[in-house]
Amino acid sequence: MISQTKLAVEIAGIKLKNPVMTASGTFGYGLEFSPFIDLNRLGAMVLKGITLRPRPGNSTPRIIETSSGILNAIGLQNIGVEALIKEKLPSLKKFNTPIIINVSGNTIEEYIEICQKLEEVSKDLKVVALEINISCPNILKEGNPLWGKDAKATYQLVSRIRKNTSLPLIIKLTPNVTDIQEIAQSAEEAGADALSLINTLVGMAVDIDLRKPKLGNISGGLSGPAIKPIALWMVWQVFQKVKIPIIGMGGIMNARDALEFMLVGARAISVGTANLINPNSALEIIEGIEDFCLKNEIKDINELVGTLKV
Ligand SMILES: Cc1cc2nc3c(=O)[nH]c(=O)nc-3n(C[C@H](O)[C@H](O)[C@H](O)COP(=O)(O)O)c2cc1C
Repeated sequence: MISQTKLAVEIAGIKLKNPVMTASGTFGYGLEFSPFIDLNRLGAMVLKGITLRPRPGNSTPRIIETSSGILNAIGLQNIGVEALIKEKLPSLKKFNTPIIINVSGNTIEEYIEICQKLEEVSKDLKVVALEINISCPNILKEGNPLWGKDAKATYQLVSRIRKNTSLPLIIKLTPNVTDIQEIAQSAEEAGADALSLINTLVGMAVDIDLRKPKLGNISGGLSGPAIKPIALWMVWQVFQKVKIPIIGMGGIMNARDALEFMLVGARAISVGTANLINPNSALEIIEGIEDFCLKNEIKDINELVGTLKV
């Protein structure tokens, strides 16, 4: 029996002590979780999606439980990039965990401006990479073209950002497309260093007594165990087509779920909805992965990535 497993992985040139990250929007700005868990133990922290200016988000109700999941229509409520830099990031500096900022914009210029502001402070504030959200289903009303639904628009957005920042770029894909391989390849060709998938699937819920939608926004994004089979299939499909590393997510509730994602090709994984049920989920998943590796004599977690037998 081996006594130790190497859990460290590398994503977009960033060394993570283990492959477990937090999914954007389910972990606040990180600090909210520090009374409950030791943030130093996480592979990386991905913070709530940030925009150029603060956003109040959508009208309530904004989260609804569904069978095996939740629907959310938060509408990217956030404090804006300036406040993130001044009020949140300095307090995260003391943790020995890389910070990844999830970025959303209405225009290419907005994306670039946010990325440049973050790059300026990145060394001082331990921002190691940017996760570019080209996939939020909740800001469509403002005319956002939802870049991630079109291969050419994805290429255009990612290549423009690439030219304007030297920080590693992780592109977060939407599952609400016909051909995810095409979009993934466009992002890779445009200079992405890694891909995150999947974001939420668009859905709705109905109150039959009121004859009304349950969400204020009518539609929302479905997450949690209900989407895991779709997420696994998409990671597997994308793994066949790209060389850059994949961060897998969608319904990961425990270590066995996380390992499924690694077998279909994810080099790291993100824990999302599970954080809302149990703030300790990510740490329990790290322990569970380690236990599995020890029991199965796996010396290095990287040995597992993409080794599904088909
Ligand atoms: C309440 C909530 C807020 C979210 N906010 C964001 C966000 O700001 N940016 C983003 O890229 N994804 C956001 N997501 C999507 C998650 O990061 C993740 O991709 C998705 O929920 C699938 O993972 P899960 O099933 O483990 O939750 C959000 C998800 C939830 C549930």
